[in-house]
Amino acid sequence: MKIVIVTGSSRGLGASTALECARRGMGVIVTYHRNPGKADEVVKAISASGGKAVALQLDVGNSRSFREFRTAVSAQLHALWGRETFDFLVNNAGYGLYAPISEVSEEQFDGLFNVHLKGPFFLTQTLLPIIEAGGHVVNVTSATSRVATAGVAPYAAFKGGLQVLTRYMAKEFGERRIRANSIAPGAIRTELGGGLNEEFETMLADQTALGRVGEPADVGGVIAALLSEENRWINAQNIEVAGGYII
Ligand SMILES: NC(=O)c1ccc[n+]([C@@H]2O[C@H](COP(=O)([O-])OP(=O)(O)OC[C@H]3O[C@@H](n4cnc5c(N)ncnc54)[C@H](OP(=O)(O)O)[C@@H]3O)[C@@H](O)[C@H]2O)c1
Repeated sequence: MKIVIVTGSSRGLGASTALECARRGMGVIVTYHRNPGKADEVVKAISASGGKAVALQLDVGNSRSFREFRTAVSAQLHALWGRETFDFLVNNAGYGLYAPISEVSEEQFDGLFNVHLKGPFFLTQTLLPIIEAGGHVVNVTSATSRVATAGVAPYAAFKGGLQVLTRYMAKEFGERRIRANSIAPGAIRTELGGGLNEEFETMLADQTALGRVGEPADVGGVIAALLSEENRWINAQNIEVAGGYII
């Protein structure tokens, strides 16, 4: 059985990814930041349909906690699956902040940087020794790195950095046959940045070729499919999953 860690999988895209991975027969390590109850619901839904999952706490913005997280992962791998390694890491955890450049504080900038770029870098570095050869790292980026959508400059810049980092991961991890790709969602109906109000959603739908905003499962299914053996030759790519957003 392949095993995947999906960061930030208590809600939104991460929860959908965790469920889709479990549906395809993978064991899942769910992580949450502040919502153990939501993570528990995801674990219960996976168990109810015959899958195997466990939830662990993780703050992706605190790189000093990553060694302890690896110890917790190793303990669960051993206890639940009798393994010392896992196969797939999905760096998904994140949050949104709408503010023009003129108003972004240094603290807000640093917070976004820690979660969206530094966190995925050092979490992947910390977990790399226990990622199985032939594994896969998927980084969740954003279509906002391609188009300058109002008010998300630091977020979009760090997501752009994560796309670049993905190519370096693919290059350096290739010797262990570990692939690295990024998935760039367009606007998806989640609680990110406080969620979408009706007016914003209508504008985004009008800018999308398929005429609506995305749902979490529109992305979760793609990430789960990307991990599969049929897609083994896709490497070092940023794949936009956005229904044709501003084309
Ligand atoms: N929704 C969109 O339109 C959209 C578009 C492009 C890209 N994305 C990206 O997709 C990813 C998931 O977003 P989403 O829309 O699913 O957001 P969401 O519904 O707000 O869920 C965010 C998830 O990340 C976790 N999280 C937040 N801060 C964290 C931290 N410091 N450390 C660890 N986990 C943390 C949350 O945990 P708790 O539940 O415990 O708080 C939750 O599981 C993000 O990287 C986001 O930037 C989203």
